[in-house]
Amino acid sequence: MSLVFQPSANIARMKESATLAVAAKARALKAAGQSIIDLGAGEPDFDTPLFIREAAVKALADGATRYTATEGILPLREAVAADANRYVQGLAPVAANEVVVSNGSKQSLYNACVCCFGPGDEVLVPTPSWTSYYEMLELARATAVPVYGDAANSLKVTADQLAAAATPRTKGLMLNSPSNPTGAVYSREELTAILALAAERNWWVIADEIYMRIAYDGPAASVLSLAPTRENLIVINGVAKAYAMTGWRIGWSIAPVALTKAMTAFQSHTTSNPAAVSQYAALAALSRVEESDAAVEHMVQEFHRRRDAVLRALTPYPTVRYVHPAGAFYLYVNVAGFEGAADAGGAFAARVLERENVAVVPGSAFLTPDWIRMSYATTEAIAVEGVTRIARCLVG
Ligand SMILES: Cc1ncc(COP(=O)(O)O)c(C=O)c1O
Repeated sequence: MSLVFQPSANIARMKESATLAVAAKARALKAAGQSIIDLGAGEPDFDTPLFIREAAVKALADGATRYTATEGILPLREAVAADANRYVQGLAPVAANEVVVSNGSKQSLYNACVCCFGPGDEVLVPTPSWTSYYEMLELARATAVPVYGDAANSLKVTADQLAAAATPRTKGLMLNSPSNPTGAVYSREELTAILALAAERNWWVIADEIYMRIAYDGPAASVLSLAPTRENLIVINGVAKAYAMTGWRIGWSIAPVALTKAMTAFQSHTTSNPAAVSQYAALAALSRVEESDAAVEHMVQEFHRRRDAVLRALTPYPTVRYVHPAGAFYLYVNVAGFEGAADAGGAFAARVLERENVAVVPGSAFLTPDWIRMSYATTEAIAVEGVTRIARCLVG
C-alpha cells in the first residue's frame, strides 16, 4: 500500500508564507558566502534582559520542569492582569480568570479565532495586516474580509470603511496597532470610533497589542483605555517584541470569562500549557516592573534612533514613498510600477536581493503587492546601508 499525502479540507486553502521564497533565497546566497543584509526578520535583535534569563535559570533550579495549569500559572496570570490594569480606564479591572497564557501571542490569536468564529462568519481584517491573521481565520473556516486602508491615512482603516465592508455575516474584526507590516499607529480618536462601531454591532474585537510599547511619536493607545465595554473585547499581547523574548514563546489573551474558559479548553486539547520555565521568565518580565521598564525603554530608544536614521537616509530620495513609521520596527515602502510587474513588491524583493544583496519581505505577504517591508531591528549602520540600497534600487 502506498499513501500519497493530499492536503485535508482543513488546510487545502492554506498558503505558504510569501516571505519564505525570499528568505530561502537569502539563506542560499549566505550559504554561498555572499554577505547579505537581511531586513526580513520580524524580531528584536537584542538579547533577553539578563535579569529575566537569571529568573529562568533559578526557576529551573527550583523545579519548574512539570506541566502547569493549561491557562498558565496563577502568579503570571495575576501579573498579566496587573500589567493590563496600567492601561484600563473607565472599565472594571482585568482579573486573572480572564487570562489564558499561551505559546506565544500567535497561539492566543488562533485560540480566539477558532473559539469566536466558524463557517459562514466574516471577519474584517484591516489590510495590510500580518499574514497569519488571514490564514488563522481560514483555518477556523471563517472568511477573512480584507478592508484596505488609504495610503493617505498610513494604510489605516477608518470606522466608516469597516462599516461599509460589513454584511449581516460580519462577526468581528482584527485590530493591530502599532501595525505589522506598516509601523502605523492608530490615534485614540480612530480607535474610539472603531470600538464604538464594534460595540454597537456586537462584533468581537481581537486587538493585537504586541507592538504597543514600541512607539516613537508618543505612546500608542491600548484599547483597554478606550473601549466602551470589555464584553466583546479580546486583547492579545505577549513578551516577544517588547522584552526581546521571541524564543520563549509566551503570549496571552484577556477576554470575558466564558470565552476564556472555551479558549482554555481548546488549548488543553491542542498544546496544554506553554513551557513552565518560560512562564517564570515572563513572570519576571511583568512583575519586576522597574527593571523591565528600564530595559524596554532602552530598547525602544535604540529602535527610535534607528528609525530616525533610516528616515534621514531617505531624505536624498524624495520620490520614495513610505508609511510614516510611528511604531514597531518596520518601514513599509511603496514600489508600485516597479519593472511594470503586477506583483511589484515581489519583483522588487527579487531584484534588490540579486542586485544589492538586501533581503526584504514582498507586500503580497500582507495582501498589498505594491509594497515591500523592511525591518530596522538590526544595527543602525546595517539599517541605514540597507535602506540606502533599497532607495538606490528603486529610483536608480
Ligand atoms: C502582529 C503580530 N502579532 C503577533 C505576532 C506573534 O508573536 P509571538 O511571538 O508572541 O507569537 C507577531 C510576530 O511577528 C506579529 O507581528
